[in-house]
Amino acid sequence: MVKKAVIPAAGYGTRFLPATKAQPKEMLPIIDTPTIQYVVQEAVDAGIEDILIISGKGKRAIEDHFDRNPELEARLEESEKDKLYNEMRHIGDMANIHYIRQKEINGLGDAIYYARHHTGDEPFAVLLGDTIIDSVIPVTQQLIDAYDLYKSTILAVETVPEDKVSRYGIVGGEKLSDNIMEVTQFVEKPPVGQAPSNLAIAGRYILTPEIFRALEQTPRGKNNEVQLTDALMLLSKREKVIADTIEGKRYDIGNKLDFLKTTVEFALRRKEFAEPFAEFLKETVKGLK
Ligand code: G1P
Repeated sequence: MVKKAVIPAAGYGTRFLPATKAQPKEMLPIIDTPTIQYVVQEAVDAGIEDILIISGKGKRAIEDHFDRNPELEARLEESEKDKLYNEMRHIGDMANIHYIRQKEINGLGDAIYYARHHTGDEPFAVLLGDTIIDSVIPVTQQLIDAYDLYKSTILAVETVPEDKVSRYGIVGGEKLSDNIMEVTQFVEKPPVGQAPSNLAIAGRYILTPEIFRALEQTPRGKNNEVQLTDALMLLSKREKVIADTIEGKRYDIGNKLDFLKTTVEFALRRKEFAEPFAEFLKETVKGLK
């Protein structure tokens, strides 16, 4: 049973400076909802109630966001803004959220290692705090279903175009079925032309506690950081690591162009904006050469 989730949210967000100089990248909103709220909602939709957020310097806004704000609630109640009031209450009650601070930025692998006392000897889900995945079945649920079948580490993967492989952890291995692969090769952000495939790790994982042993033995890798991808390679020598090609659309919010596209797509889906925003876009596109 996967009951806990870990959301690493300690990175600097250098790809989004200056917006992330004094605020966490995970708080960048898609319209009116911070990215990390979509991520927490995905975990909750997959039946997870216990979430550990790996936070760090300059990330306080995340804690405040998932806390109650009694003054704001009272103000909304007085002014009879019931819908907003309920929404604010809901955010404070979404899940049992715990926090631990990564003391130095040493990479995703190091961030995950901070979770070891919290997750103990249970498997747990990992959802990167700057990635939203839109899908009919929450991706974390898709991975939990695969975990129930294989009882080993599961990675969400998706096919990416050749020129994007150097942005991701790339895996290769032996196909077990249409969407399932037993992974034997792992490379973090390979140069174009040197990737074992174009299957990219998509920011969602189910990890077994064995990952902590592997992380202890993982030397610093790409960018002189402890890479989760490298630890997964070590782990694959001791237990099966399965890649599951997920059904869903991934939005990488840490990337400015993807952030813009996400905002447009999400706005077109919102009832109150769909029509006027589509009109605006059509007019704007008409004016393009
Ligand atoms: C991290 C992982 C990488 C994965 C990516 C997905 O990289 O290290 O393996 O493919 O997330 O978004 P980051 O984007 O944090 O540099």
